[in-house]
Amino acid sequence: MFEIAHKVQDESRQGEAFTPAMTPDKQFKRLFYIESYGCSMNFSDSEIVASILFDEGFGATRHLQEADLILLNTCSIREKAEQTIRKRLTEFRKLKHQKPSLLIGVLGCMAERLKSKFLEEEKLVDLVVGPDAYRSLPGLIVDVNDGQKGINVLLSREETYADISPVRLNTNGITAFVSIMRGCNNMCSFCVVPFTRGRERSRDPESIIKECRDLFNAGYKEVTLLGQNVDSYYYSQATGTSVPQGGIFHTQPSLSGITLINNDTSKSKVGVPYNSSPEADRCAVTFASLLEMVALISPQLRIRFSTSHPKDITDEVLFTMAKYDNICKYIHLPLQSGSNRVLQLMNRSYTREWYMSKVNRIREVMPVCGISADIIAGFCTETEQDHQETLRLMEYSKYDMSYMFFYSERPGTLAHRRYKDDIPEVTKKRRLQEIVDLQNKLSQQSNKEDLGKTFIVLIEGDSKKSNGDWMGRTSHNKVIVFPKGLNSLEPGSYVEVKVNHCTQATLLGEIV
Ligand code: 5AD
Ligand code: SF4
Repeated sequence: MFEIAHKVQDESRQGEAFTPAMTPDKQFKRLFYIESYGCSMNFSDSEIVASILFDEGFGATRHLQEADLILLNTCSIREKAEQTIRKRLTEFRKLKHQKPSLLIGVLGCMAERLKSKFLEEEKLVDLVVGPDAYRSLPGLIVDVNDGQKGINVLLSREETYADISPVRLNTNGITAFVSIMRGCNNMCSFCVVPFTRGRERSRDPESIIKECRDLFNAGYKEVTLLGQNVDSYYYSQATGTSVPQGGIFHTQPSLSGITLINNDTSKSKVGVPYNSSPEADRCAVTFASLLEMVALISPQLRIRFSTSHPKDITDEVLFTMAKYDNICKYIHLPLQSGSNRVLQLMNRSYTREWYMSKVNRIREVMPVCGISADIIAGFCTETEQDHQETLRLMEYSKYDMSYMFFYSERPGTLAHRRYKDDIPEVTKKRRLQEIVDLQNKLSQQSNKEDLGKTFIVLIEGDSKKSNGDWMGRTSHNKVIVFPKGLNSLEPGSYVEVKVNHCTQATLLGEIV
C-alpha cells in the first residue's frame, strides 16, 4: 500500500457516493448519482454541482440503479487516480445497456485534462465537464437528451461559484469545507493542477463569510477553508479583483504549450513586481485578514485551512492563528523533497533552509501546533543522497503525519517535458517505504508526547469501532476516541479529554 491517505485526498472517501444531508422538499423529475475522487476541492465542487442540479429539478440518490444521471467527479493528480476512474466507468456499461436513457458524465480534473479525447476513448460517456464549467451542466444535459454529446472544458479567469450555496452532501452536520479560491499559479513541475484547474482566483470575502455564518447558524462547528495555495488569497474590495494588480505576468497554461515560467502572484516572493495601487492595497483582503473575519463569526466555530505553501505563508497568518483560540493550531505544509537540488527541479521556489526556518517560526509563534507534509519519493534524477536529505528534514520537522507518494509522471507537465522519469519503480517504492516507516515512527513519538495532556475536543460522531465511544479532533488535528460515559453530549459538543493511551494514528482518552 504505497498511496497513503491524503488529508485533502482522504482515501476512505474516494469514490464516495453522495446524498444530501437534507432532501429539499421537491418532487424530483429525475435523479442523479455522484461519486467524488481526489482532493477536498473536488468533494466541495460536487456540492456545488448538486446545488446546480437541484435547481434543475434533479434529486440525489445513493443507488446507481435508480439514477438517470451518473456523475464521476475525477482526479488526475497521479496515474493511479485516473486508472481507478477508467475501471469504474467499465462497471457502468451494464447499467447503460439495461437503461439506454441513462446519462453518464465525467467532471473535474480528468475531464479537463482529456477533453474530447474522453468522448472518443470512452464511448459510454455522454458528458465531459471541466471544473470551471459546472454552470453549463443543465444546458449540456439538454443537448445530450437531444442526441448530442455534451462537452464544456473552458477554464475561466473569474468563476468562483461565489453565489452558489453548496448543498451539503454526506455531511456529519458538524464540519464542512468552504472553497475560498480556485486554480493555482504555481507551476510545480510535477503537478497537473495548474492545467486542470486553471489560473488562481480568489472568491469575494463577503460570500465566504456568509457561507461560514450560514453553516454556523445551521449547527456546524468547524469550517475548513480550501484553496490550492491559501496563502496567496487576495481580494481587493476597491477594484473587485481577486489577484494583486500588476502581479501577473503569465498566460493561461495549457497542456499543449507551456508558456508559464515565473507566475507567482504573491507579494511575499522576492523579485516579483507588485504594482498594486495604494487604494487597492488598503482595501485588500489577504488570507490573514480573511482568517480573522471568519474567526470573528463565533468563538464556537472552529476554523481550519488547507493548503499552505512554504514560500508564501506569512508571519501575519501565524500571528492571526495564535491570536484566536478557534483557529485550529495545525498547518499542512507540503515539503515534497528535502533536497535543494530536487526542490529546484520541482520549481518549488524555496530551499530546505527556508523550509526549516518556516518550521522554526511556526513553533516559535505557536508552541503547540500540528504540522503535516506532502512528500514525493523518486522524483526525476533523485539520488540516494537527495532521498536521505528528505528523511533528515522529516526528522527535523517532526511531522505529526504526512501524505506520501511516489512520483507519477503526468503528461504535459513541466517535468514531463523537461526531465526523464529515470528512477526505477522498485527504487521509488523502496524510498517511499523508508519515508512511510520514518513517518510512522514520528507519528508514534508525536502521539506519545500527548500522553497525560488534556485537550479541548470537538465531537464529530461515534467512533468507527464502537457506538459506545465518541470520535473527535483536537485543535492540532489529532483524532481522539473516548468513552461516551453518562454525559449528555452530542456531535458538535466541545469537551475536555485527557489522553491516556495512543496508537500511531489515534489518541485514546477520557472525559475530565
Ligand atoms: N506524482 C506524485 N505525487 C504528486 N503530487 C502532485 N503531483 C504528483 C505527481 N505527479 C502530490 C504532491 C501534492 C499532493 C496533492 O499530491 O505531494 O502536494
Ligand atoms: Fe500543484 Fe504546486 Fe499548485 Fe500544489 S502548489 S496545486 S503542487 S502546482
